[in-house]
Amino acid sequence: MCSILGLSSDSDVAPTLVASLKRMEYRGYDSVGVAIKNGSNILVKKGVGKVNDVNASIHMDKVNGNVGIGHTRWATHGGVTVENAHPHLCNSGPVGVVHNGIIENYAELREDLEKNHNIVFKSTTDTEVIPNLLQIYFEKSHDVKRAIMDTVGKLKGHYAFVALFNTGELVGVRNHEPLIIGIGATNNLLLTSDIIGLPENISSVIYVDNNQFVIVKDHEYDIYDFEGNVAQFTIKTIPKSYQNVTKGSFRYYTEKEIFEQPNTILMAGEGDNNCLEKITQSIRDSDYVYVTGSGTSYNIAVIAKYLFSRFAGKKVEHVMASEMKYSSRYLVSDSTLFGISQSGESADILESVSIGKKKNAKILSMVNSKNSSLARESIHSIGLNCGPEVGVAATKSFTSQMAILYKIADKLCENCLAINFHTISNAYTKMLSNTSHIQELAKSIKNIQNLFVIGRGIHYPIAKEGALKIKEITYVHAEGIAGGELKHGPLALMDSSTYVIVINPDDDAYVDNISSVHEIKSREAKIIGISNKPDPSYDFWIKIPTIREELYPLIEIIPLQLISYYLAVERGIDPDYPKNLAKSVTVK
Ligand code: F6R
Repeated sequence: MCSILGLSSDSDVAPTLVASLKRMEYRGYDSVGVAIKNGSNILVKKGVGKVNDVNASIHMDKVNGNVGIGHTRWATHGGVTVENAHPHLCNSGPVGVVHNGIIENYAELREDLEKNHNIVFKSTTDTEVIPNLLQIYFEKSHDVKRAIMDTVGKLKGHYAFVALFNTGELVGVRNHEPLIIGIGATNNLLLTSDIIGLPENISSVIYVDNNQFVIVKDHEYDIYDFEGNVAQFTIKTIPKSYQNVTKGSFRYYTEKEIFEQPNTILMAGEGDNNCLEKITQSIRDSDYVYVTGSGTSYNIAVIAKYLFSRFAGKKVEHVMASEMKYSSRYLVSDSTLFGISQSGESADILESVSIGKKKNAKILSMVNSKNSSLARESIHSIGLNCGPEVGVAATKSFTSQMAILYKIADKLCENCLAINFHTISNAYTKMLSNTSHIQELAKSIKNIQNLFVIGRGIHYPIAKEGALKIKEITYVHAEGIAGGELKHGPLALMDSSTYVIVINPDDDAYVDNISSVHEIKSREAKIIGISNKPDPSYDFWIKIPTIREELYPLIEIIPLQLISYYLAVERGIDPDYPKNLAKSVTVK
């Protein structure tokens, strides 16, 4: 979602703000802007497009001033226009705001401001009410702290914002959307929605709690709750891997993250066996276990059902995080709710956890960001440890999530799986060492309109995940289908222009899949087989290594990620910034 930033320093802040915005662009990239205090004015520079392009034309990094705010946008309210790009100033100019989240009651606030305060709005965003409320309340009390408390008293919804006053105060407010304070040397204080925004020289951070705000003035900071009481906080150090994230020698983050998997698969849940043990115990002790997540993380929830039931006889139910609200009446009280999320900040999963809590569920989670909201809402939370995932499409986080599920399943069944993850890592290295055949395939199918991915049993959620990757970064319509369902409808779509990817390792679904392949071939559609075994009916065979049958899901996803990535490149799409998407979806 949108990224928000504020920086106070001894020197000009604009170059650092722009560099941080570039790193945070994955949260939203339709427009960008900065506002810098320059004397008693607040100067705004903003435009539509990506950070580098906008900066090349309007030089946001050249504005002078030691305190400023910045934003990259993922439009929710109001189209993608310069007027709607952040920062937004209050009508008279002395307060600027960047915002992430949604102000649910903005329409009525706007009407009141127009009618009773003669405010003329310049944008169609929900954001613009905030600087105007701040300014009106500040004029009344001449007290920034009071103005914030009065303003948040009026706002409804989940939001975080950073405000800049021309009196020099920089303010960060958190209400259910992330906000972090970075504390650096040379009086650098940065407010950010994401640790990736931190410059290399800042590694000490405070995670601002919900319903708290921070006021930065003259290199000092004070944190309060929404009632105005001084808040307690702890300063933490962020891992080195999150500082100065770059693409290295890779062309795209997505490519880099796919190729990191031989290492990241070894890190999943590592160093926290105690937590893994506690999560396993909670699942073991629970009569009802619900697993929830969104998108890729939901596909993991489906895999959890297969793994925990097959290897541990544990019945679990998967619920899409966005559907939890509508399933809540069926939730059994005092159950266990296992939330899966890369970011730990997706609004849907946070909502599903709060629904679970109302039913007295025990909250467990698996996240990549150990200090995320989801981790903090959980009694036990295990880390993926796969390092920052910048590509919008989840790749390495998916395999790390799966690895943790396998570890839990193994504990539940008292080591019946005894997995050596080095075997998986070696299989990844092998598959990634030569991708030329997949690149050729991508070239040959670059103009297709539809792609189907079929799998049976535990391979079905992998098929769904493959299809999600394809549609997300290649814009080709793709569907993940359980093989047996083909004849119940989807075969109607098969003809000589159709390609079907069949996930077909040599396990108990192999023979049935070959039958599906024949059904598909009789409609003249083409088959791309992902398997350790060749078959004459495959038009294209992607060979995967032979490993223990139960472990194929961990490796068969790699060719699907590679097909998506190379197809995106062939189709001239930047896989890191697919249209209409953003990383960490913090709005409902
Ligand atoms: C797909 C993708 C999204 C996320 C989903 C949940 O590649 O990236 O579908 O998986 O938005 O995000 P997290 O896991 O951060 O809660």
